[in-house]
Amino acid sequence: MESGFPPPQIDTSRPHPARLYNYYLGGKDNYPVDREAAAVLLRTLPEAREIARQNRLFMQRVVRHLVTEAGVRQIIDIGTGIPAAGNVHEVAHEIVSFRDALAPGSYLALSHGTADFHVPGDVGLATTVYSKATAPLVVRDHQRVTAMFSGWDLIEPGVVQVPLWRPDRPASIPRDLAKIGIYGGVGRLGHQQRS
Ligand SMILES: C[S@@+](CC[C@H](N)C(=O)[O-])C[C@H]1O[C@@H](n2cnc3c(N)ncnc32)[C@H](O)[C@@H]1O
Repeated sequence: MESGFPPPQIDTSRPHPARLYNYYLGGKDNYPVDREAAAVLLRTLPEAREIARQNRLFMQRVVRHLVTEAGVRQIIDIGTGIPAAGNVHEVAHEIVSFRDALAPGSYLALSHGTADFHVPGDVGLATTVYSKATAPLVVRDHQRVTAMFSGWDLIEPGVVQVPLWRPDRPASIPRDLAKIGIYGGVGRLGHQQRS
């Protein structure tokens, strides 16, 4: 049986974004250092749990759409959560920078944290917590997240707070939508964009 990562390969001296995310979702793959950092953040931003849950639901709706409606058969998942392989960021960089490597009809789906809906101090606290982690938290406004789709055709409804991206039912949109500070969107690569 696989025994997982040997402990020396896991840095438990600093919080890790994937383990923080796992903690918000109620998972078990986290350490005291993650739980302590998460507790600080959750005191100011208790909605972090709901943001994580909504982000996960967005990802699931997107994948379902791509596989069942758009006919996508290969998916590269960048920033999966708990890391399972090294150098993921290198793959991400290559894909985002070298769009020509992708076939026409490829899709880019991403979600991204934003401070557009929160008071700056609260988001500042969150970024401070992450500044002590193994990777920082970078928030971007709607214009900057939309700019990430430059060269892609955004499919409906464009870049929106994740619960608003093709909700399964109107009832699945949280009442306190203003607390869900994360945007999501899906773009499609057309033929003309590769030439
Ligand atoms: C908010 S979680 C999302 C997890 C999962 N994709 C989902 O939708 O449930 C973001 C993940 O991206 C990872 N991450 C952060 N910066 C990254 C980078 N530069 N390259 C690859 N992954 C990164 C974090 O470690 C974390 O696991």
